[in-house]
Amino acid sequence: MARPIGRWLTKLRRDLRFAAGARVAPFAPRIPREREAALLPTRRLVVREVVRETPDAVTLWLEDPTGAAVPFVAGQFFTLMVPVGGEILRRAYSASSSPRDPSKVGLTIKRVASGRASTHLVETARAGDALEVLGPSGNFTLASGVTAPLVLVGGGSGITPLISILREVLETEPGRAVTLVYANRTPHDVIFARALEALAAAHAGRFVVRSLFGATLDAAAFAAELTKIPFVADAEIYVCGPEPMMHVVREVLASRAVPASRIHEERFVSPQARAAKPARSAGAVRVKIRLAGKEHDVLVPPGRTLLEAGLAANVAMPFSCALGGCGACRVKVRAGKVEMDEPTCLTEDERALGYVLACVGTPSDGAIVEAS
Ligand code: FES
Repeated sequence: MARPIGRWLTKLRRDLRFAAGARVAPFAPRIPREREAALLPTRRLVVREVVRETPDAVTLWLEDPTGAAVPFVAGQFFTLMVPVGGEILRRAYSASSSPRDPSKVGLTIKRVASGRASTHLVETARAGDALEVLGPSGNFTLASGVTAPLVLVGGGSGITPLISILREVLETEPGRAVTLVYANRTPHDVIFARALEALAAAHAGRFVVRSLFGATLDAAAFAAELTKIPFVADAEIYVCGPEPMMHVVREVLASRAVPASRIHEERFVSPQARAAKPARSAGAVRVKIRLAGKEHDVLVPPGRTLLEAGLAANVAMPFSCALGGCGACRVKVRAGKVEMDEPTCLTEDERALGYVLACVGTPSDGAIVEAS
């Protein structure tokens, strides 16, 4: 009994401290394609419609061809297995639609510079395409039982999980006020411009959009926008966008002494950053993975994660997003160490207790970890 409660508390703490939406850490595939397909418990969804949001962004409306529901919580993301050039690229994309209609889910994808998966999807996705999907995953979700007003702070495609949260709140919590501060390079880059306008008109008096434009988020301009929000002192603040923008937001909120417990961030490692990192070891390392009362000797090749190596060795390690954003692959380090790519959704409390995320972790030789 103690253990489920402990995990629930940890999840609650994670919900309160972080949140992750997009958007966590896609990683380069290192398991052979045919083997990966056999190892991962994906489900197949079909593209029913492709809606172009901006020249660089589309929304893919996905349905289960069997008619089964596609449930998710506002703010969560799905991991798509995107076949590009003979490889499967895993990429996390947040749901932008309302979870109130589980018959379909809208995933909004913006082309990123040198992003192979996003470019492929934005340029070639068509109605009728089938996609293998993991998830939903992620804890960038509304804390249950909290009814404080909301300030949503988005940058570029960071709007994606925020608009799902926005839709959920506007549909289900009529008394809750929401302000969206939305930063973009130019007005042409604004995703969901018309949808946001329509929502603001339909919910005038409790939903306001404040737009900022520029190559980077200007701290003084952001601080000035905050002062115009009457309920900002009591608000729960959800932030999602590129790291430079998140950094500015953190600094401004810290200068206003906003408690960390009221700030929810989507945390992720960019695929480019991960791909650019050299392998931490020159050769393969041996680890022991304990799971369900058994101990498995696993060889981790250079550049592979603990999860990849465990799955390749047929150890049924739990996971969901495989991107560092949901916590499902959490393992406890019993000996040696496991270095992780950052940032992830792991809380400071979990780190202090010796937990790591296997999907973004690389073990030292001789490490022993315990999965649950
Ligand atoms: S954090 Fe989601 S599977 Fe590792």
